[in-house]
Amino acid sequence: MRSIALLNQKGGVGKTTTTANLGACLAMLGKRVLVIDMDPQANLSVHLGVDIHNLKHSVYNLIKGECSPETVLLNTGIHGLDIIPANIELAGAEIELVGVVGRETVLKEYLGDGLNGYDYVLVDCPPSLGLLTLNVLTLVHELFIPLQTEFFALQGVSKLLDTYEVVRKRLNHDLEITGIIFCMYTSRTRLCNEVIGKVKEYPPLGDKAFSTIIRKNVKLSESPSHGKPIISYAPDSYGSEDYMALAKEVLQQENNRK
Ligand SMILES: Nc1ncnc2c1ncn2[C@@H]1O[C@H](COP(=O)(O)OP(=O)(O)OP(=O)(O)O)[C@@H](O)[C@H]1O
Ligand SMILES: [Mg+2]
Repeated sequence: MRSIALLNQKGGVGKTTTTANLGACLAMLGKRVLVIDMDPQANLSVHLGVDIHNLKHSVYNLIKGECSPETVLLNTGIHGLDIIPANIELAGAEIELVGVVGRETVLKEYLGDGLNGYDYVLVDCPPSLGLLTLNVLTLVHELFIPLQTEFFALQGVSKLLDTYEVVRKRLNHDLEITGIIFCMYTSRTRLCNEVIGKVKEYPPLGDKAFSTIIRKNVKLSESPSHGKPIISYAPDSYGSEDYMALAKEVLQQENNRK
């Protein structure tokens, strides 16, 4: 099993879009995939068609120890793709957990062996490096960092790398950055290519970049409001093509490791 967090504390860079669509494409390729929504905005849950206003249980109840992983798991309607959804209640957890002993590891603790049987666990992080994100970083073994190909792409990345180093030292020695994903690329602007060039020269990240680049595609921005991943909403779009190529590259990483 591979467990991967989609992390960048910068907002709006493509974390949720990538979690939903990479997850769906890996499931299409025959993998058993679980996605976990750890963002109180619950965009991932909405994107994958969950009715967040009528949830019996959410990841909030799970990390409070109020329900088991089985009761919080939902199928997305896509074969092989399950979700642990979130709703706005999760916003309270950050404060409620402050006084709890072992507060950085409640997600891992309460998931227990609930992850058994999955080939991939993908976790969508909120745009912050707070307690919810720390819980994700103690759970997973890999980090994929989505970057928007724009001028401010690297803003905040050094802070992100500091957090990564601290977590590796103190909480999770196995954590590795294994992918940089360029999102919302437009070939029309020179800036996009400059940003990609700059990141590739940046030592801790450069050699981790996937060769698949996710192009800006209006279908990708429409699909969340239909509650569907791009491969269901617009299977013939560029967005679908790009995320499927990314999924194949992610699978290929395993062959390269063998
Ligand atoms: N390749 C793309 N082409 C067009 N629109 C995109 C693309 N990727 C993402 N978007 C849109 O950009 C917006 C931000 O993307 P997304 O929600 O995935 O970012 P995020 O990093 O999860 O944001 P947040 O930090 O708020 O959680 C969304 O409206 C999404 O639909
Ligand atoms: Mg998001």
